[in-house]
Amino acid sequence: PVTVYPDEHTASLKVAGRIADLIRSKQQKGEKAVLGLATGATPVEVYAELVRLHREEGLSFQNVVTFNLDEYYPMSPTAAQSYVTFMNENLFDHVDIPKASVHIPDGTLEREQITAYCLDYERKIEALGGLDLQILGIGRTGHIGFNEPGSAPNSGTRLVTLDDLTRRDASRDFGGKENVPTKAITMGIGTIFKAREIILMAWSQKKAPIIKKAVEGEISSEVPATYLQLSEHVEFVLDADAASELT
Ligand code: F6R
Repeated sequence: PVTVYPDEHTASLKVAGRIADLIRSKQQKGEKAVLGLATGATPVEVYAELVRLHREEGLSFQNVVTFNLDEYYPMSPTAAQSYVTFMNENLFDHVDIPKASVHIPDGTLEREQITAYCLDYERKIEALGGLDLQILGIGRTGHIGFNEPGSAPNSGTRLVTLDDLTRRDASRDFGGKENVPTKAITMGIGTIFKAREIILMAWSQKKAPIIKKAVEGEISSEVPATYLQLSEHVEFVLDADAASELT
């Protein structure tokens, strides 16, 4: 299903509210909430609202375990552009999540360690009973996570090569495209699909053409987000601008 809100702010509050509800209902049952998280501009207001709920309404993250979708490779966790830094600044430094409950792909591995590391990332998710909820943004290439065009629907966590357009879109953060890493470690389409609930968010006119393809286009590896049409538990949460090309 597609849900359209008038603006990013309203939509972000709704998504944060759903995450908070999940965390609280798991807490009541004495269970962990296992969240799949995204970085980038899209979820920033969602995380800000979660921080507010923690500070002002006592929402606790003690029972939350998180798995981030991706990280650039190579990437030092302390670099300004790392997704570790992003998550710390936008969420983890401001809530009571145990550090051991946070998982973000490691951008510092040696090449020969990556395959085993990725299998272990999958195993860790499975050992916790799988992802309860996966949050997604969408890139202009149609990528989810860093699953670029050509990604297989059953792909798992792995090292991938970033699309040229993705690197161009990231160039501002890195002070030029030539500084953007050419690779990343990302959860696969298959990993994302196993989540019990998936919410893909998109805001602004800039995302309208790719949202039209993702929601209404032919299912194809050329636009990896189209695979989400095959899932019964995915919701596209859009602002009016991102939804403006939908029929
Ligand atoms: C980030 C990620 C990417 C972004 C996408 C959109 O962890 O997996 O798929 O969600 O590139 O980025 P923004 O939100 O910056 O437009």
